[in-house]
Amino acid sequence: MSRKKIAVLTSGGDAQGMNAAVRAVVRTALDQGAEIYAVYEGYQGLVEGGERIRKMDWDSVGGILYRGGTVIGTARSEEFRTREGRCKAALNLIQLGIDGLIVIGGDGSLTGANIFRQEWPSLLAELVQNGKINAESSAAHPNLLIVGMVGSIDNDFYGTEMTIGTDTALHRITEAVDAITSTAASHQRTFIVKVMGRNCGYLALFGALATGADWLLIPEAPPNVDNWQDVMVERLKAGTKAGRRDHIIIMAEGARDRDGKYIGSSDVQRVLEEGLGEEVRVTILGHVQRGGRPSAYDRNMSTLYVWKKREKSQR
Ligand code: F6P
Repeated sequence: MSRKKIAVLTSGGDAQGMNAAVRAVVRTALDQGAEIYAVYEGYQGLVEGGERIRKMDWDSVGGILYRGGTVIGTARSEEFRTREGRCKAALNLIQLGIDGLIVIGGDGSLTGANIFRQEWPSLLAELVQNGKINAESSAAHPNLLIVGMVGSIDNDFYGTEMTIGTDTALHRITEAVDAITSTAASHQRTFIVKVMGRNCGYLALFGALATGADWLLIPEAPPNVDNWQDVMVERLKAGTKAGRRDHIIIMAEGARDRDGKYIGSSDVQRVLEEGLGEEVRVTILGHVQRGGRPSAYDRNMSTLYVWKKREKSQR
């Protein structure tokens, strides 16, 4: 019997721990006697094929456990969103005899994987019809087996307790807010810190909890009064009266009011400057949250996740 051939790719925004996941996938596949390929540059690499799809061995993933980002690259591919792009991707896989795909990515990437899996039989039929592959190759790979590993700092995937990268991003936020707090306290200042998460407030919520922030704005729990700006200003004033030297407002990038209206950091800054009568600084943490070395938790979760799946499949 020929060896099972599978491929792994990382897609969407990178996340710390993706390398640990790739390493675990490659080594577990080899341990199980499968042939394993890495697709470079996410779905775009799948569409382009050729050098973008490379066979991996044990050493190909050596020394990457501690590295940030994803060593096999990632992209947000517009081409893969089209059926034509997915047809090219199917051809590239079939030509190598690959019919198993492990996708490490967020919501959009895993939705894309599911569409690809559903369309697989019809994509192969199209390739046979256009004379790109023969009926035997199509019949040898009737299904595309997909495994999704949720890699995203946002922790926004339903049914998943922790996604790859979230723990590291949370640590990074905590460190940054701690640093800001010390300068804020020295100057008796108020800071607004905006954190990533797209439409999910997890990072903001747990970042605020970990740093004892004064005010929090997240999309899941908008302020429950219309005059929340006045309430916020009064709370901060009360804090100052009680002896507090710094004020930290943490807001998620997807923060909304109860009418669903987006709240921008400059809106909050204006309200606070008017209400408190002082200058207010804004720090947008941005991509530092996503870059750099993964925490032990993210490395271990990514590794054990693959190991657990392997154990289950052996039962
Ligand atoms: O999904 C991860 C994430 O970092 C979000 O938190 C953020 O909104 C977005 O990606 C930023 O995307 P880009 O890297 O394309 O700027």
